[in-house]
Amino acid sequence: MPEVMGAGPESWVARSLRNVWHPCTQMRHHETMPLVAVSRGEGAWLFDHEGRRYLDAVSSWWVNLFGHANPRINGALKDQLDRLEHAMLAGFTHEPVVMLSERLAARADHRLGHCFYASDGASAVEIALKMSFHFWRNTGHGDKQEFVCLKGSYHGETLGALSVTDVSLFRDAYGPLLGKTHVVESPDARAAAPGETAADCARRAAGRLEALLQQRAGAIAAVIVEPLVQCATGMAMYDPLYLALLRELCDRYQVHLIADEIAVGCGRTGTFFACEQASIWPDFLCLSKGISGGYLPLSLVMTQDHIYQAFYSDEMSRGFLHSHSYTGNPLACRAALATLQIFDDDGVLEANRALAGRITQALQPLAAHPRVRHFRQRGMIWAFDAELAEGDGGFARRFFTLGLKHELLLRPIGNTVYIMPPYILNDDEVAHLASSTLAVFEQALDAAP
Ligand SMILES: Cc1ncc(COP(=O)(O)O)c(C=O)c1O
Repeated sequence: MPEVMGAGPESWVARSLRNVWHPCTQMRHHETMPLVAVSRGEGAWLFDHEGRRYLDAVSSWWVNLFGHANPRINGALKDQLDRLEHAMLAGFTHEPVVMLSERLAARADHRLGHCFYASDGASAVEIALKMSFHFWRNTGHGDKQEFVCLKGSYHGETLGALSVTDVSLFRDAYGPLLGKTHVVESPDARAAAPGETAADCARRAAGRLEALLQQRAGAIAAVIVEPLVQCATGMAMYDPLYLALLRELCDRYQVHLIADEIAVGCGRTGTFFACEQASIWPDFLCLSKGISGGYLPLSLVMTQDHIYQAFYSDEMSRGFLHSHSYTGNPLACRAALATLQIFDDDGVLEANRALAGRITQALQPLAAHPRVRHFRQRGMIWAFDAELAEGDGGFARRFFTLGLKHELLLRPIGNTVYIMPPYILNDDEVAHLASSTLAVFEQALDAAP
């Protein structure tokens, strides 16, 4: 891109800081924390303009599944680019969106389908919330206007999604703008008392939810959860039993179950959909992030047929009149089709089981580290909590900065260090990941103020 490259490499950082407002960042922190200008990606690695490299151990915010510049996804996109870059999806349709919807429905055993598309995860959450409310309205239950989320839940940053998000750092400033939500106990297995199992935590949390539903089910439209792993709150993992109990409660009390699989879908927890591990299907399932292989913004909501039928009518206003300009973008759908093809061609879920075993093995020195608490793993997610000195609020940024020096991109959440790598690490990369994470962890502890 010579016409836009302009000045020399160091200036990208300065120019970015002057002109780009970076996400999820207190911009002032960049007075001391590095900003990396990425020039290219290849496989699990990102490269900066000086040729330094960083193992992308968080899959660039959990989106990348099969590496950067993946030749198969690149090839599909180049082909699609010469056919159709975009067409509106109202009144028109196209091959990539039809094929993607068919393939996803087949993966959901045809229990979920009618894919409704958007671009980002938060938009998918908005859609599921609106659809749930509108379903009840269309079926004579307009009083069902409230939602339930779990303690520590994260479902995105737009106002509707933030209403069902329980991370005070993101939500507190906007409290007056947010809708009414009930926050119920999380089944987080770390809450187990001595002698208790993760299943006990699941049963206890389900009991708390039931107490709420007994009182208020008539006013509640849906319960929204991140199945198996509450990622953004610090990789809180829980027993699949909770999902089974939740499904049963939602059926009994006539409340929808929204599964936000934006972070945990697409094989991340070991099955293609996390809900499969509890042998349940939700009423709505949100997907984004990995579905396009980490290439393009794409999100969607799948739903059950009886939901769809409640909108099917002669009356315009009973329809779901939500839209986004780029809904069902052909390039994004084509990237998703190429991604699903890799799952099939390479037996990814099975290969990941072996890869996860190797990564867990390589991380054993960390698991046994005296300052590590709650080392945990589900599918292709690993996490542990650092035992920090009192008042050490800078651990996450220190860890990130030190990580860069060890060719490692990791961004802890508070005191939780997590690893969510692309599914393509080779043995050398696994070894690098494990040894660098340990070294960075020890240095970050040593450098505590
Ligand atoms: C579970 C979950 N839901 C929703 C979102 C929001 O997705 P997006 O950032 O694409 O809006 C995220 C993002 O991390 C997420 O982890």
